[in-house]
Amino acid sequence: MLIDRPVIVALDFPDAASALSLVEKLDPSLCRVKVGKELFTRAGPELVKELQKQHFDVFLDLKYHDIPNTVAGAVAAAADLGVWMVNVHASGGRAMLEAARTALPKNGDTLLIAVTVLTSMGAEDLREISVTVTPDEQVSILAKLSSDCELDGVVCSARETPVLRSELADDFLLVTPGIRPAGDSLDDQKRVMTPAQAIQSGSNYLVIGRPVTQADDPTAKLRIIMEEIHGKK
Ligand code: C5P
Repeated sequence: MLIDRPVIVALDFPDAASALSLVEKLDPSLCRVKVGKELFTRAGPELVKELQKQHFDVFLDLKYHDIPNTVAGAVAAAADLGVWMVNVHASGGRAMLEAARTALPKNGDTLLIAVTVLTSMGAEDLREISVTVTPDEQVSILAKLSSDCELDGVVCSARETPVLRSELADDFLLVTPGIRPAGDSLDDQKRVMTPAQAIQSGSNYLVIGRPVTQADDPTAKLRIIMEEIHGKK
């Protein structure tokens, strides 16, 4: 399912001024943007409002993980801020996911997405916290739990996309970082897919940071990415 504007540009900047100077070079009809913990902690809701004033859909990537009542309040606050997408950690468990879903009813204006296993965690890290299944199995378990709790989708690595797509409903959204256009620097990403490969393997949204934010002409780069996606549709 190829969605309108599948690219979410990760605004991984230390302050509002740098983020706003990048978005000046972006076109909201071509992409959406992601605000994560560092930028939000420094620039707060005011920056989110400014991005929205400039017609950008905002993915508030704060990965909430707390008791159900607290997470429900947090996602409701994100919805009040008018963000397009917000996320929680699936490992917070069923009660937390259900409370978040209740606070943010399905088919409203804000998509509710879960993080399964952080891609920075390997088998050894999981064993240390008493998770004895493999990382791939744990990703599937948490994605199914998220789907059971009627979340709108999960964040997953491009590597996990084909299996999750085969296990979950067609309209369950897969949001995928670790994307690099062919020939681009990998930076610190290890397992990457090109935008076209990720879409072909079942991703719905691609989180792309440095390939766009560090490009001489970010909009031109986005157009190349979109052409690649559509060309190989
Ligand atoms: O610059 P780059 O395209 O590598 O940025 C990817 C973005 O996706 C960053 O904001 C990063 O934190 C996020 N991300 C990731 N891998 C995950 C989850 C999130 O790269 N597993």
